[in-house]
Amino acid sequence: MSETLSTLVSKPGAVTSNQVDAPLGMLCELTYRCPLQCGYCSNPLDISRGESELSTKEWQSVMRQAAKLGVLQIHLSGGEPCVRADLEEILKTAVDVGLYTNLITSGVTLKRKRLEELVKIGLDHVQLSFQDVDPKNAQFISNYKGGVEKKREVARWVKELGLPLTMNVVIHRHNIENTAALIDYAVEIGAGRIELAHVQYYAWALKNRAALIPTREQFYQSVKVSNEARERLKGVLVFDVVAHDQYAVRPKACMGGWGKSLFDITPSGKMMPCQACESIPGIKIDNVRDTPLADIWYKSNAFQMFRGTSWMKEPCKSCDRREIDWGGCRCQALAVTGDARATDPACHLSTFHEQFAETAEQESRQPSPPFIYRRIGGVPEVS
Ligand code: SF4
Ligand code: FES
Repeated sequence: MSETLSTLVSKPGAVTSNQVDAPLGMLCELTYRCPLQCGYCSNPLDISRGESELSTKEWQSVMRQAAKLGVLQIHLSGGEPCVRADLEEILKTAVDVGLYTNLITSGVTLKRKRLEELVKIGLDHVQLSFQDVDPKNAQFISNYKGGVEKKREVARWVKELGLPLTMNVVIHRHNIENTAALIDYAVEIGAGRIELAHVQYYAWALKNRAALIPTREQFYQSVKVSNEARERLKGVLVFDVVAHDQYAVRPKACMGGWGKSLFDITPSGKMMPCQACESIPGIKIDNVRDTPLADIWYKSNAFQMFRGTSWMKEPCKSCDRREIDWGGCRCQALAVTGDARATDPACHLSTFHEQFAETAEQESRQPSPPFIYRRIGGVPEVS
């Protein structure tokens, strides 16, 4: 399953401006193939059928290089990582070189035997994505029938096999009213952690923004529900909530800071500071097929472009939060202001902030248009 990277690193680290440390985490998008078609998918809009995926050997080399570079944890994601027949071989190499391994999956293709094998190899953690607790609504969101029942079964196997389980949910106008029910469900299936990630508008989510955006009141109510549950469930369930940018006053540290602790590798080997950065003018993305990971991390144009604070303009440049949120999200700044160096419009100090929130509120009060479901081959001409 594919969500924004912000859910993987939500806490700012301790690195000071422009200092480059070894990365902590690597998101491995093993494939863009996926049986689900969620309208908020963070995979690119123009996923093409012909894109050549890294081979088993190439991913194994990536794992070895990542461990040498200092990466501690890897997130095996997609698309749906379980559609790769060589998942076991890739995982084995990661385990052999000492990486902490997290499988991010929709679970719908998993069989118990396969999960047992992954656990035997040394898988450390599973993040299972849910669209909703209501089967009909979950089907509507993902355009996939029978998902909830299957996921419940997979959650049970994960617990029986002794692995820690996180329940991932992307929150939007079609499931936000079920925030309390989703939290109860997480407790019921034995998850130790829940990620409630309010939609971030890139890729397919941006295309479907009007169909996804909740009202400000719905957002506040959902946050209230999760805050109360967080108190009530201390010691039972850990909460990781990514706020809705349009209704926030401060931005999130997108990617935990650009080129600071986390990076992404796409199915065809592009190594990127974030999943959505290809549209940034002038960015040069390197491929792990041609360049060693360490060279890309320390020296490449893409990773240096917005690393640290020296690229910042005012108001970020002199703001005392500049090493906390690192100026927010570059891709959102570009999408909304036309300038990737601008302050993220989620920040109340951005001159675009009011308009950004107002547009969201107006959209949220209109009836939801139909979803344009995510699919290989790009957005259909007529939806
Ligand atoms: Fe963050 Fe920049 Fe806003 Fe300061 S001005 S809070 S650094 S986005
Ligand atoms: Fe935030 Fe690209 S999505 S920096």
